[in-house]
Amino acid sequence: MADRISVLIEEEKVQSRVNEIARQISRDYKDEEVHLICILKGSLFFTADLAKRIESPVTVDFISVSSYGDGTESSGRIKIIKDLDDNIAGKNVIVVEDIIDSGRTLSFLMEMLKVRGPKSLKLCTFLNKPERRVVDVDVDYIGFDIPDKFVVGYGMDYAQKYRALPYIGVVEL
Ligand code: IMP
Ligand code: MG
Repeated sequence: MADRISVLIEEEKVQSRVNEIARQISRDYKDEEVHLICILKGSLFFTADLAKRIESPVTVDFISVSSYGDGTESSGRIKIIKDLDDNIAGKNVIVVEDIIDSGRTLSFLMEMLKVRGPKSLKLCTFLNKPERRVVDVDVDYIGFDIPDKFVVGYGMDYAQKYRALPYIGVVEL
């Protein structure tokens, strides 16, 4: 059966917010190199859009961690499915995430990356659900704070569906 999806953030708003974040990052790093870490698969479009728009020189790497499986609830167990290809020691790292919910994934990941000796380490998330936070995480760049709804689109999925929607939608469960 097809799920009902309502629009939460239109494509135009998604894109203009990404532009603003890219401008902010460009101002913060100027001519210094920025190493973006894309958390697969959800932050694929966000990372790509940022990479194109940040004016500082950009490199990109990918990491994949376990998350929700096919459901909508965090299991609390996090494991690395695919680690980074490149060493991050001495780099200005920005971890790029699609959405922070309980905060478990990111608090685990940021601690893991910190010990690898980056020159600087920041966190950028497109969406943030503050009401759902279980574990504290410091977030440096946030696209939008959203209410406690399960969202899809712009990289985010529900059982692997709807990632390619250019807007943010809410699945009416
Ligand atoms: P956390 O560890 O609970 O913060 O979960 C973060 C991860 O869960 C995100 O990277 C997403 O992959 C997934 N997630 C959390 N909320 C949503 C949602 O509303 N839609 C799609 N994926 C979500
Ligand atoms: Mg994710």
